[in-house]
Amino acid sequence: MTNNNFDSKAFRTALGTFTTGVTIITATAADGTRVGITANSFNSVSLDPPLVLWSLAKTANSLPVFSESRHWNVHVLSVEQEPLSGRFASRGDDKFAGLELDEGMTEAPLLPDCTARFQCRTAFMHDGGDHIIFIGEVLGFDQSDLPPLVFQSGQYALTARKPREEVRLTQAEPPPECSYTEDLLGYLLGRAHFQMVNRLQALLDEQQLEQAQFFILSVLCIRDGLTLAQINEYIAYTGYTVDQDDMDVLIQCGHVVIEQGRYRMTADGRDASLHQIAQAKAIEEEIVEALGPGDAMALKLLLKRLIARTDPGLPDLWAVSS
Ligand SMILES: Cc1cc2nc3c(=O)[nH]c(=O)nc-3n(C[C@H](O)[C@H](O)[C@H](O)COP(=O)(O)O)c2cc1C
Repeated sequence: MTNNNFDSKAFRTALGTFTTGVTIITATAADGTRVGITANSFNSVSLDPPLVLWSLAKTANSLPVFSESRHWNVHVLSVEQEPLSGRFASRGDDKFAGLELDEGMTEAPLLPDCTARFQCRTAFMHDGGDHIIFIGEVLGFDQSDLPPLVFQSGQYALTARKPREEVRLTQAEPPPECSYTEDLLGYLLGRAHFQMVNRLQALLDEQQLEQAQFFILSVLCIRDGLTLAQINEYIAYTGYTVDQDDMDVLIQCGHVVIEQGRYRMTADGRDASLHQIAQAKAIEEEIVEALGPGDAMALKLLLKRLIARTDPGLPDLWAVSS
């Protein structure tokens, strides 16, 4: 059944707008050959009895094994498993090479570290055009907190939850003549930054350090032995420029020494810096907990993209020095 007026590329593109998770479905043949494919056609069918489905292209190498095996496992992939998705979407010889497997209920291979897993027995197989539709009875399942990998319009994506209630920072309407709104990206970024950094302030007060001196210590903690000019290059992104007075404060409190025009951290300085990092990590942990790991990962990814997009060409602090 073909329709010559049907633009199959456009059809595929339109279908791709339906956002899905990504699964790997595995089975083992009677002779022990293991097969697995990446599939996003997975879906739920019935709760009672518990049934799920997916469809397999008739051209797939694994079709004979899936058609004959009584069992197969569906693995809902987590974000970190994107490389596995690529591996099982290619026509490799042994896609399981080097992979550690968990003990499953059946002979079908069971992959670890997934968002969810469904161990199934084939209930029905239906012809579905150029695919075969597999319907399976779920014998067992499990689930983790790992954020799921998403597939949208031919690209991998992350989930960011949309709260039922709109998040509004103010309930008041801005005056009509004011074009400054809470949705201005610069405002959101600035406010988020200051609200987070201000939570470090208590520690900096205790350590009797200004923000600029905190930035200096963070830079020296990553890369020691810099000149004042180099330090300023590395902290340029903060908007601060530090001078000799800032360095003298750090020298006087024993955090930094100067040797031939280059600043080095002392053991005391490293200790102060480690406390700051520990505090920053504790603040982050609390925020990740509140946002959820998937949203936190999506936030970081978007921030990195924004930073890369707006980078005026700053030196790379983490790059190995020549
Ligand atoms: C995100 C994604 C989803 C896919 N979904 C399916 C699917 O639902 N059914 C299918 O037959 N192939 C699907 N594929 C393609 C198969 O993974 C691919 O053809 C694989 O190489 C088949 O393996 P095999 O030939 O070893 O059986 C998908 C590929 C990707 C990247």
